[in-house]
Amino acid sequence: MGLNTELLRSSFNLVVEREPAITARFYGIFFDRYPQVVPMFSRNTPEKQQEMLTGALVAVLDHLEDAPWLASTLRTLGRRHEGYGVTAEMYDWVGECLLAAMAEVAGDDWSAEVEQAWVDAYGAIVSLTLND
Ligand code: HEM
Repeated sequence: MGLNTELLRSSFNLVVEREPAITARFYGIFFDRYPQVVPMFSRNTPEKQQEMLTGALVAVLDHLEDAPWLASTLRTLGRRHEGYGVTAEMYDWVGECLLAAMAEVAGDDWSAEVEQAWVDAYGAIVSLTLND
């Protein structure tokens, strides 16, 4: 994807090592800033949702160099999300809260360069997810 894959992986690993519950922190920030989405998450327990999101993030990071896998997996994920009532605007909310959670955990190890790498990666992920 022309992304800084080294930096994405090293920053993600640092964050997960420091805070294995990073996805729980993400949902905390997301539900706090955008309480209107809370009722959408009623089919599964928070633990199950955190596990699914972590699994998806790890799988994407494992396939950053595999464009066909990314295109097909993310498009399928995007179609399921339409069924959950997710709109394009909500992807911006998730990106903002995901980066906020990672920046909080990374602390002094977060930088403008890491931030930019994640903005680029998340943007690429969303464009594949929403790709008709
Ligand atoms: C690129 C960003 C995203 C990723 C990687 C992601 C990943 C996932 C995964 C892996 C699942 C498990 C079920 C499935 O695979 O269909 C899921 C479910 C779900 N996601 Fe996302 N998601 C993203 C963005 C969003 C956004 C923007 C919303 C907006 C609110 C959202 C809301 C939901 C909901 C409501 C469910 C169903 C939860 C449940 O009922 O258990 N997701 N997501």
